[in-house]
Amino acid sequence: MRVFVVGASGAIGTRLVPQLVDRGHEVIGTSRSAERAEHIRALGAEPVALDLLDPASVRRVVLEAAPDAIVHQATALAELNFSRNFDRTFAETNRLRTEGTDALLEAAREAGVDRFVAQSFASYRTAREGAWVKTEDDPLDPAPPAKARESFAAMRHLDEVVTKAGGIALRYGGFYGAANDGLIEPVRKRQFPIIGDGGGVVSFIHLDDAAAATVLALEHDGPGIFNVVDDEPAPVREWLPVLAEALGAGPPRRFPRWLARLVAGEVAVVMGTETRGASNAKAKRELDWEPRHRSWREGFAAAYATTAGLKGEARRETAPVDA
Ligand SMILES: NC(=O)c1ccc[n+]([C@@H]2O[C@H](COP(=O)([O-])OP(=O)(O)OC[C@H]3O[C@@H](n4cnc5c(N)ncnc54)[C@H](OP(=O)(O)O)[C@@H]3O)[C@@H](O)[C@H]2O)c1
Repeated sequence: MRVFVVGASGAIGTRLVPQLVDRGHEVIGTSRSAERAEHIRALGAEPVALDLLDPASVRRVVLEAAPDAIVHQATALAELNFSRNFDRTFAETNRLRTEGTDALLEAAREAGVDRFVAQSFASYRTAREGAWVKTEDDPLDPAPPAKARESFAAMRHLDEVVTKAGGIALRYGGFYGAANDGLIEPVRKRQFPIIGDGGGVVSFIHLDDAAAATVLALEHDGPGIFNVVDDEPAPVREWLPVLAEALGAGPPRRFPRWLARLVAGEVAVVMGTETRGASNAKAKRELDWEPRHRSWREGFAAAYATTAGLKGEARRETAPVDA
């Protein structure tokens, strides 16, 4: 297949392109940067420039590329400055998930592309009641915290429009497995506390496993939503100390809920104490996918064994750390 990967230069894109090439697909990968375009070429894809927030250019570039399938992996999450206002932090990513997805689907329709796979997210989003591990059929949170409402709505929009168009939305777990993973810095600096009882459940996924599921999803007929997460959704109080140890950091601090609400805001409190994780049973069953890193327990140790001593620049690269 001729596969058009939007976001080929990112954390997941750079793992996905080589796996698609290995599988015999011809890959066109987008980047807005000449330097990252060269990296995409080195991974075996043909680079093209694309700004997903420019619908006219999306239409032109997709029609010119004439792909058989499109993968949407664009986010704007590098160099994030987390604030108490989750929606402000995610504003550009939300546009990529709403306007960007709409533009790409419209271009796909015009170009006659009937395979479409897009990046969505698994943890935090389901109703904060009942079972601690949820399936794709369980209801989404009807009342997300006020400062995260736009971000939750953007993910919901993506899931809905992609499946309505016959495509597949992959709700990935929290990515890990690169030298610049988002959690490394705050956990090293002991800025990521266990809040209250630390009962909020999270699902993780190693980037290579996420890419492998994406290749399989491309070969699967839609529509569908799949959780692409590892086998062990876990509460913060369990995974955070393990991550801190794998990174050679001190043990996480503990904050009571009232203090965390004051310092970090309501979204952090909800995510640290109430949110649910996700089951991967459907992806295993229907995509015939198995994660190689079954749990963050061994995954963190394997991924970060070589980074405990790394400093500064080295950690900013999106390089695999368990090669
Ligand atoms: N599920 C998760 O936990 C999850 C999901 C996503 C990201 N993250 C984390 O967030 C951090 C940053 O992610 P990242 O390294 O992938 O960087 P990123 O800044 O989120 O960029 C991801 C991809 O989106 C593309 N992109 C961004 N804006 C675009 C636009 N307007 N038009 C077209 N393409 C656009 C980028 O391409 P350009 O080359 O054009 O910039 C890049 O290929 C990483 O630590 C990653 O693991 C986690």
